[in-house]
Order: sequence, then C-alpha cells, then structure tokens
Amino acid sequence: MKLASEWKSFEARNRYLVLLFLMIATSLSGCSDHGDPVGVVDPPGGNDPVSFAGDIQPIFDTNCMDCHGAGGNAGLDLRSGLSYANLVGVAATASSGNRVEAGDANLSVLFQRLSGLMIDPMPPSGVLPLETRDLVEEWINDGALDN
Ligand code: HEC
Repeated sequence: MKLASEWKSFEARNRYLVLLFLMIATSLSGCSDHGDPVGVVDPPGGNDPVSFAGDIQPIFDTNCMDCHGAGGNAGLDLRSGLSYANLVGVAATASSGNRVEAGDANLSVLFQRLSGLMIDPMPPSGVLPLETRDLVEEWINDGALDN
C-alpha cells in the first residue's frame, strides 16, 4: 500500500522530476536512486549509514583494547557488547562533557580525543587515519545509533 501510494505520488511529480533529472544528470551520472521516487537524502559522506557494530566497534577492537578492556583507563570499557552503554550519553571521567553526545561529534569527548585537537589524543601513540575519524564523526552526527 505504501509503495503504491509513493509510486502514485511519483507519477504526479513526473514532469518535475524529469526536468530536475536533466538539470543534474551530468553531475550525478554515477549515482542511482532508482526505486525511491520521493527521494531519500543520503547521510553526509554518502552510501549507507555508518553502523556501530560494523564500522565503529572494529575501530575500538583494533586500536583501543590494550587500555580500554576490562577495568579500562578512565573507567572506559570499549569491549564489544559493552562499549555503546559506556559511551552514549555517559559523562566522561577524565574531562568534562559526555563521552558521546548523540548528534554532535564536536561536543563528544570520544571524538575530541580521536581528533587530538583540544585534549590528549586517543590512542596516545597518535591520531588514527582521517578516514577512520570521519567514520566516528559521521556516526555521532547521525545520532549515534546502536545499529
Ligand atoms: C596506551 C593506552 C591507551 C590506548 C591504546 C587508548 N587509550 Fe584512551 N585513555 C587512556 C588513558 C590512560 C586515559 C585516561 C587519561 C586521559 O584522560 O588521558 C584514556 C582516556 C580516554 C577517554 C576519555 C574517557 C573519559 O571518560 O574521560 C576516551 C574517550 C578514550 N580514552 C578513548 C580511546 C579510544 C577510542 C581509543 C582507541 C582508538 C583509546 N582511547 C586508546 C589510555 C589509552
């Protein structure tokens, strides 16, 4: 039912969409939004939403376990299955603010630490590649979902 009504809506807007398509076709030649007539805006960075389990936890597993496992430094346990509840909406112990402020990476101690701009970087050995930090930033700014 929902699909049918969306399709009907698409038909009504067909002329507009054709015009719009012609205007942007050259710049979107590699993009495909077929089957989504009303249009869903991709998150920043494009592609699929960042997944906590699939994208973020592996960053912790690879880079943080030496110091943030059981009884982790600053009381921060980043082990799989425990990390989310230790981060989102939880006040930081070693600095002010929440470890993760859902929707705002810049206010999140986790991202501040990963960026290493204002306070001691994490991991202490040096900041992670930009691509990795971008994933965390996007995950937080998209609402820090447990997805
Ligand atoms: C070599 C040990 C070490 C590694 C590796 C490490 N950390 Fe830390 N981390 C610490 C120590 C020690 C503290 C507490 C002292 C401080 O605030 O700098 C801390 C504090 C933090 C805090 C602040 C927590 C709070 O509640 O204030 C965050 C967030 C953090 N680490 C994230 C990470 C992340 C994410 C990684 C992996 C990318 C990581 N750390 C890797 C040692 C480490």
